Amino acid sequence: MPSILIMKNIIAGYGDVAIVRNVSIAVDKGEIVAIVGPNGSGKSTLLKCLLGFARLFQGQVFYQGRDVTGMASYRLINQGIGYVPQINNVFPNLTIPENLDMGAYHRKGRNSIKTGIKDIYEMFPELEERKNSLAGNLSGGERQMLAIARAMMPQPQVLLLDEPLASLSPKPSSVILSKLTKIKEAGMAIIIVEQNVKKALSISKRGYVLVEGTCAMEGDSELLFSQEGSKQQYLGL
Ligand SMILES: Nc1ncnc2c1ncn2[C@@H]1O[C@H](COP(=O)(O)OP(=O)(O)OP(=O)(O)O)[C@@H](O)[C@H]1O
Ligand SMILES: [Mg+2]
Repeated sequence: MPSILIMKNIIAGYGDVAIVRNVSIAVDKGEIVAIVGPNGSGKSTLLKCLLGFARLFQGQVFYQGRDVTGMASYRLINQGIGYVPQINNVFPNLTIPENLDMGAYHRKGRNSIKTGIKDIYEMFPELEERKNSLAGNLSGGERQMLAIARAMMPQPQVLLLDEPLASLSPKPSSVILSKLTKIKEAGMAIIIVEQNVKKALSISKRGYVLVEGTCAMEGDSELLFSQEGSKQQYLGL
């Protein structure tokens, strides 16, 4: 079985500047893959170029065995690629169900959206408890949950998460991580970009270490984490 999502020999950046240089990654169904590395190493750019939010200079993207290189973001999202950006990932002036609604624009009919929201509340009862709150009034952890939940409304096969633990304290971080593990166990493929190397490698099966736009190391997450030299050199631990 080929991986559900493959990015091959990616060169990407902004304007004329290539930031990510010749990076290849892949994720399977039911697998969490981590992309870690220092600030500015191109982790967000790698995710963004997939959806056309950064410029893809070269390389190919395969989804479910088909070449989807350069496909418009709304089509990719309709076809099952969910994306949670690093910043501005909820609508602060909308309530939780309104935010979820915004994630479901492709779903036909109110009933389908209602069912979608019900399923989401099963996975995230924390959100149902606060459903009348504006997203802007949620705690950091709740907000990240909402961002993930919104991306799940179109029932994706793959989830791309850009720093879902950013600035969260340990408790909400572990809540998010246990949700992600459950989502994975339900068969989803997850790519998680994280500054928190230890946590990202703890829930992922495999990892890629990006340094200055290139892949410095890749492999089994446990092994990556246990390589002393790499920890200091690349991971800043
Ligand atoms: N919109 C943009 N236009 C031009 N350059 C950008 C843009 N966004 C990011 N960059 C540059 O690209 C490089 C890589 O940024 P990127 O956001 O991909 O890094 P990152 O690994 O996600 O970092 P962080 O861990 O801080 O989120 C940085 O040097 C950054 O300044
Ligand atoms: Mg980033």
